[in-house]
Amino acid sequence: MISPSLLSADFTNLEKEFKIMNEEKVDFIHLDIMDGNYVPNISYGPGIVKSLRPLTEIPFDTHLMIERPENFIEEFVKAGSDIITIHPMATKHIDRTLSLIKGYGKKAGLALNPGDSLDVLNYNLEKLDLVLIMSVNPGFGGQKFIPSALRKIKEVKQLIEKRNLKTLIEVDGGIKLDNAKKVLNAGADILVAGSAIFEKDKTRENIKAFKELL
Ligand code: DX5
Ligand code: ZN
Repeated sequence: MISPSLLSADFTNLEKEFKIMNEEKVDFIHLDIMDGNYVPNISYGPGIVKSLRPLTEIPFDTHLMIERPENFIEEFVKAGSDIITIHPMATKHIDRTLSLIKGYGKKAGLALNPGDSLDVLNYNLEKLDLVLIMSVNPGFGGQKFIPSALRKIKEVKQLIEKRNLKTLIEVDGGIKLDNAKKVLNAGADILVAGSAIFEKDKTRENIKAFKELL
């Protein structure tokens, strides 16, 4: 599956970007929420998410790169998020925050940064709909894929299979047409791609090219 990251979209013409994603039937739309605190960048918040909601029925895959995400879950639910992914180190109580997301009937994800080990999954995996494996350090689009993510994808996949779960693996950062196949072969279910998808006059053809690889 493919989840284009809106971060690289043309923000002066989001209506056009959504029209293309609707017509090309992408699986999810990846929304990167950054607070300038958990990550060294600021993007956009729930108000923008809410105003984008009427433009599509495609599920919103919301990646919260914010401190204390527990304080904003309700707002993102109200704004129309379908999947809400948090970073474990950003929250005070991982299990409580995941329960909060699930309590609203939404899908919950946990993100692992390139330097994070799998340990955090040990007692949380059963609660997760999705594990987001970061293949760049969170904060910016257009960075280079960190190869150690491939081993992490395989290890997470093994863990999910060993426990007979259906948890999806999503991979985010530096994914291009020329490394996507490797990421899929390692065990990824959902590819996030920003700069490799949103490109002036080429967005539609880029989505088509990614879909052909899936
Ligand atoms: C990085 C974000 C990514 C980013 C991906 O913090 O989580 O979703 O937008 O962008 P590319 O595909 O350009 O690496
Ligand atoms: Zn992201």
